[in-house]
Amino acid sequence: MAIPKVVGFVLLLGIAIFSSKVAECAPFGSRRGLLETVFDVTKFGARPNTEADSARGFMMAWRSACQSSGPAKLVIPPGTFTTGETIFQGPCSSPRPITIEIQGTVLSATDISLYTRGAWISIEHVDGIVVTGGGTLNGQGNSSWQYADKSGSTPPLPSSLVFQTVKSSSVNNINFVDSKGVHLKITDSSDITVSKIKITAPGTSPNTDGLHISQTININVTDSDIGTGDDCIGIGDGTSNVYISNINCGPGHGISIGSLGKRLNEKDVKGIIIRNCTFHSTSNGARIKTYMGSPSLQVSDVVYEDLILDNVKNPIVIDQHYHSKDRNEPSKVKLVDIHFKNIRGTTNSKAPVALNCSEALPCDGIELVDIDLAPIGNIGPLLAATCQNAKTILGGKNNPPAC
Ligand SMILES: *[C@@H]1O[C@H](CO)[C@@H](O)[C@H](O)[C@H]1NC(C)=O
Ligand SMILES: *[C@@H]1O[C@H](CO)[C@@H](O)[C@H](O)[C@H]1NC(C)=O
Ligand SMILES: *[C@@H]1O[C@H](CO)[C@@H](O)[C@H](O)[C@H]1NC(C)=O
Ligand SMILES: *[C@@H]1O[C@H](CO)[C@@H](O)[C@H](O)[C@H]1NC(C)=O
Repeated sequence: MAIPKVVGFVLLLGIAIFSSKVAECAPFGSRRGLLETVFDVTKFGARPNTEADSARGFMMAWRSACQSSGPAKLVIPPGTFTTGETIFQGPCSSPRPITIEIQGTVLSATDISLYTRGAWISIEHVDGIVVTGGGTLNGQGNSSWQYADKSGSTPPLPSSLVFQTVKSSSVNNINFVDSKGVHLKITDSSDITVSKIKITAPGTSPNTDGLHISQTININVTDSDIGTGDDCIGIGDGTSNVYISNINCGPGHGISIGSLGKRLNEKDVKGIIIRNCTFHSTSNGARIKTYMGSPSLQVSDVVYEDLILDNVKNPIVIDQHYHSKDRNEPSKVKLVDIHFKNIRGTTNSKAPVALNCSEALPCDGIELVDIDLAPIGNIGPLLAATCQNAKTILGGKNNPPAC
């Protein structure tokens, strides 16, 4: 028997109001010691352990949490939910922060026509959000990876979780599996912490970056395991004051700055520290890549420090000739004060250190200190670092020899 939509909606609203009243009576202590109202998605129509699309239930729970007069927590309880495009939009009137506690598993619906804005779950225009709970966001990417466009000419497949214009917020204790596109994307945001996340996707999955950061100021990323088919962490334009530490990366393409200079109006990248990270069987370790024929742009004050490499192809790479086949002009991204310090371990490439800078704007102040790499497998002794248009400052040990 079909319940008319309007009746269903009124029923849902009734349940919503009732449930939040109930929840208000039940004191859940928040971290601040205030009473916190719980908005459980199952009270708003989300249905666990079915294939029904629960996006509407999630969003209705969000709307109530966002408009709550007291501290609010949206809870996705244990069980497996499926949702298509899910948007959590602010600004919110409830006190900061709102917590989204993912206890269960959320599967991304596999019909890619459901995603109209390049995102599966997006959190937008919110000041103060905490995403946590130990649960899993499974993008079920395998069925859509065949549509990935490596040339970048069609819109990318949806990112699993997007922070867009978000302030003073965090993501911690969340598992990401098999995103269709980027696993966690943070853009146009500030004062963000990401910690204790685990990202798992096959090394062969296309364009599935772990974490991609752009247009963002003040972000710390720590204590996380990232294994995927593209960059473990990618840092895009307009990003500054980034601190990344204690990351295990692999499989994947390493921790990269770039690609920069693809589009007009990109902004500078400045103040990036990547420290105490390990790389297992990745194609790169520390990488900076910029497009040929780029507009003028600068990358400065970058430190890659205390990195351990295990069977990495290109441990240290600056590549300012990205897309040299379809672009003729040199890159106009200027690289200044880039420090590579205490980077050691094994490589499977004969030429593991390449500083390949722009003909138009040579790199300035590239520091190589205590680089100690050993070949793995039968590849013979390592070749000296190759440098083009790069002014280096050397210190400590340099094995293979620097340039
Ligand atoms: C990042 O960590 C530093 C300490 O290492 C701290 O001073 C800073 O406030 C943190 N920033 C954010 C956005 O968490
Ligand atoms: C997708 O799944 C199929 C079947 O399990 C598997 O053969 C294939 O390798 C997977 N694709 C990737 C990129 O992991
Ligand atoms: C370096 O990272 C590892 C985990 O990857 C952690 O166990 C260790 O404590 C970190 N060291 C420092 C000095 O932070
Ligand atoms: C550096 O860039 C040039 C293109 O100008 C390319 O031919 C060369 O292979 C690159 N070298 C490395 C080590 O990437």
